[in-house]
Amino acid sequence: MNLLEKAKSVFLVCVVGCIFIFAFIYVKNIVSKEGNEQKLFSELPECSNYPDELCSALFQGKSAAPQVGQLCQQLVHKQEMSICTQTPCNCSALQKKLHFITNSLSKEEGNFSLAYIITIHKELDMFVRLLRAIYVPQNIYCIHIDEKSSTDYKASVQTLVNCFENIFIASKRETVVYAGFSRLQADINCMKDLIESKNQWNYVINLCGQDYPIKTNKELIQYIKSKWNGKNMTPGIVQPPHMKQRTHMSYKEYVHSGKSYVYPTKQIKSEPPHNLTIYFGGAYYVLTRKFVEFTLTDIRAKDLLEWSKDTYSPDEHYWVTLNRLPDAPGSTPDLEWEGNIRAIKWRDQEGKAHDGCKGHYVRDICVYGLGDLKWIAESPHLFANKFEPATYPLVMECLERHHRLKVLQQAEVPLEAHWHLQDQEPGQLN
Ligand SMILES: *[C@@H]1O[C@H](CO)[C@@H](O)[C@H](O)[C@H]1NC(C)=O
Ligand SMILES: *[C@@H]1O[C@H](CO)[C@@H](O)[C@H](O)[C@H]1NC(C)=O
Ligand SMILES: *[C@@H]1O[C@H](CO)[C@@H](O)[C@H](O)[C@H]1NC(C)=O
Repeated sequence: MNLLEKAKSVFLVCVVGCIFIFAFIYVKNIVSKEGNEQKLFSELPECSNYPDELCSALFQGKSAAPQVGQLCQQLVHKQEMSICTQTPCNCSALQKKLHFITNSLSKEEGNFSLAYIITIHKELDMFVRLLRAIYVPQNIYCIHIDEKSSTDYKASVQTLVNCFENIFIASKRETVVYAGFSRLQADINCMKDLIESKNQWNYVINLCGQDYPIKTNKELIQYIKSKWNGKNMTPGIVQPPHMKQRTHMSYKEYVHSGKSYVYPTKQIKSEPPHNLTIYFGGAYYVLTRKFVEFTLTDIRAKDLLEWSKDTYSPDEHYWVTLNRLPDAPGSTPDLEWEGNIRAIKWRDQEGKAHDGCKGHYVRDICVYGLGDLKWIAESPHLFANKFEPATYPLVMECLERHHRLKVLQQAEVPLEAHWHLQDQEPGQLN
């Protein structure tokens, strides 16, 4: 070995040594902030017990856990997801591989069917995780795929849906524009399909692709039966003055080459039809079948729908306005924000309803980070919004395991092996 080569290898050894020392100090700094995290520290180098121990620490709100989790979730190998590798698709193999629950888990649940409307436009991985969390064979699911989604995405969703008798894609699809009428129309398209289906569902719930359940199917049914038996849930109040211009001005949807938005015109709108008092609330609801039939046939509902076509974010006034009519089926004319439908960290509720967003805000709504898990798990709401597994994969991983464990613990029938998520390799679905 000549002198130059010797110098080179000494230099290399130094560099590698330095990297190790710095990595050690870095990790130690993170973990020593909380002494009792020593256990995590010993497992950190390969994050070997990822994600179960880390998830427990996150749900308990341990202060060092989000930082450790941040490191680990970056190390975990993330695979592209493929729904079905064979053609034609072997559906029983697919249901097993993706851990779908294939039986009713109790008599009570088997006897109470829910309909879901799920509007999606991207991120197959998130959709599969959401679907397998809320899927049970006695329910029925209408999937609205945005017309502007990619053909690959549409094809993958179609392949998945084809494997289930009680899941279908909306017969009429919209190009959905944020805050536009198309968002409301998408739900109504699904409602028409759901009313025509053979399944005699009791209630309908709407979700978007960035929602995830906090409660199990059983807990959901028990909440509806005990607190809302026969009533609709549409949290909201009489339209406050600062929301007036949403229905006072005429708005238009703009859709052109990948860009879409809603903008106000100079035109002033007519008064609401039938002297209806306009309410303001959330876009999320839990509605009875009778109320859905009413909204599809009643003349006031039809006229309000027509009048709402050029308003801003009509899904935030349409359902709540109709559900305050004293003669609508299951209506709640005297309620306001009651009904735990959605856990959302709004930016303007910081310091009041929550202690701040540990992920980041998008349009004033928190995209949950690792430090938000404890708050989510303790929330009384049925579902939470909003999730972005591409940015915070461990958030979804933890919630999913937590949710499935609860589902299996509450089951009153023998469990099948593939219902457990635990045999999965971390970070991959197939
Ligand atoms: C489908 O997959 C299952 C395993 O889940 C297997 O037993 C069955 O033979 C497969 N069917 C076909 C047609 O390949
Ligand atoms: C199932 O539902 C029917 C009517 O909805 C009711 O009469 C019956 O008692 C229910 N059975 C169980 C086991 O809950
Ligand atoms: C609305 O109410 C006014 C009185 O407040 C009444 O004159 C009018 O006829 C009502 N219009 C409709 C369509 O009911």
